[in-house]
Amino acid sequence: MIQPRSRTVVVLAAGEGKRMKSALPKVLHPLLGRTLVGHVLAAAAAAAAAAERTLVVVGHRAEQVTAHLSEIAPAAVPVLQAEQHGTGHAVRLAMAAAPDATGTVVVLNGDVPLLRPETVAELIEAHESAGAAATVLTAEVADPTGLGRIVRDPAGGLERIVEERDASPEQRRIREINAGIYAFDAAGLRDALGKLTTDNDQGEEYLTDAVGLLAAAGAPVGVHVAADVTETLGCNDRVELARLRRLLADRVNEGWMRAGVSILDPATTWIDVTVHLERDAVVEQNTQLYGTSTVGAEAIVGPDVTLIDTAVGAGATVLRSHAVQARIGVGASVGPYAYLRPDAQLDERAKVGTFVEVKKSQIGAGAKVPHLSYVGDATIGARANIGAATIFVNYDGVHKSHTTVGESAFVGCDSSLIAPVEIGAGAYVGAGSVVNRDVPPGALAVTRAQQRTVDGWVQSRRPGTAAAAAAERAGAGTAGAGNGQVGAGNGEAAHHHGAGDPVPGDTATD
Ligand code: UD1
Ligand code: MG
Repeated sequence: MIQPRSRTVVVLAAGEGKRMKSALPKVLHPLLGRTLVGHVLAAAAAAAAAAERTLVVVGHRAEQVTAHLSEIAPAAVPVLQAEQHGTGHAVRLAMAAAPDATGTVVVLNGDVPLLRPETVAELIEAHESAGAAATVLTAEVADPTGLGRIVRDPAGGLERIVEERDASPEQRRIREINAGIYAFDAAGLRDALGKLTTDNDQGEEYLTDAVGLLAAAGAPVGVHVAADVTETLGCNDRVELARLRRLLADRVNEGWMRAGVSILDPATTWIDVTVHLERDAVVEQNTQLYGTSTVGAEAIVGPDVTLIDTAVGAGATVLRSHAVQARIGVGASVGPYAYLRPDAQLDERAKVGTFVEVKKSQIGAGAKVPHLSYVGDATIGARANIGAATIFVNYDGVHKSHTTVGESAFVGCDSSLIAPVEIGAGAYVGAGSVVNRDVPPGALAVTRAQQRTVDGWVQSRRPGTAAAAAAERAGAGTAGAGNGQVGAGNGEAAHHHGAGDPVPGDTATD
């Protein structure tokens, strides 16, 4: 029975990552929901749950990296490596910052984001059960270019790790590579780090040499071969980052499909590792699910949908739309071509249709905003119907104000509701109205100008046109056209429709 030993995790994240050619430090580049270093920390945290502490060596843009760490892993302790003299130097500084560390020290390169927690756990288990001084995670790869090669002794044990630039032609043919993930015994590691030289092509202290020194001293040094080569892939430039993103997306998509989610086109589906989907959810083509988004059972999302930190309820549908920090209720319907902005909340069976933008608004159960509308800073009651092209006028140039629409209210098409304003429960607003005063429950508000019709105007004012000919064929007379001076105040030439008793009738759409 192996006694639980104290464990320390050291993540190396001080390098610039020159080949990324980026203002952003390499380890802060995003990859499906986490930064590169975020993935490594997540794998290490899950595997080495018993870790007494996690140290992260920071250097290049240390402040930026440290700020990120305080967000994603507040318990991790940053260790400053002001000048980057190599991976061995980095670990030496970390060990100096943790003088009381005993037992197992797990060292992880900060740029190996596809590493699985299970693999780290297996490495630790292999290391501790063998009582090894060092255990190196390795992999057999088709193309080892740029990576450290594992040189084995005639008995098959690890002899040393040689960097490509320091390797002989013969050593370069070795396809077993160093993944940059290690377990060490703390005391042996300290000892070996003290003996590192900079006698290599880069003039740096190599952590890999610590492994070779331990082996040369006859200490037990082991190798743990990774079952899945992709887990060991590092990221040195943006081409590699894109490859890692593809591999991780495939892994995530496969995981969800095996968990009962339908993904119609995995090649165009990008799901962050932080997203959650329920059984029988359907993800259609060209869909991106990011951040803390969730998709409920039997909901259909896509095609052409981007969800960022958005919750989709069971049975809801979201089609060709973009949503950020929105909540879409059970059975609700969104799109095509809707834009849900932060704090858009759709209750059960609510509908937000085509070319509708919603911001910081609640749309009640069964309420509909079917077409061409802007809804901002509003509360819309259950079963209310908001006609096409209704604008919630929430901004006066200085302040944002709120609009309330009561349950089962009916707002006619092309209306503007100027906030702050309240449309009472069951009230109607006639089409084309501009409403800036409260409408009591059950009342009708109409503010549009009344219609004037000038009979025979076309034949009189547009003779010889196709319109005039059409009017003639339709039997239109010229009587009543007067002199045709529309708007000249010739009241008898015009008459009004609907005067005195406006009825919305055609005011909303369905
Ligand atoms: C390293 C290994 C190599 C291995 C490869 C796997 C060494 C000498 N070589 O090479 O055997 O195959 O990783 O990906 O270790 N870092 C610091 N401080 C430094 C230098 C690096 O914190 O002074 C960090 C980097 O930010 C990075 C990690 O260590 O996260 C690895 O550094 P990198 O320069 O990418 O090492 P490689 O040349 O890839
Ligand atoms: Mg590297």
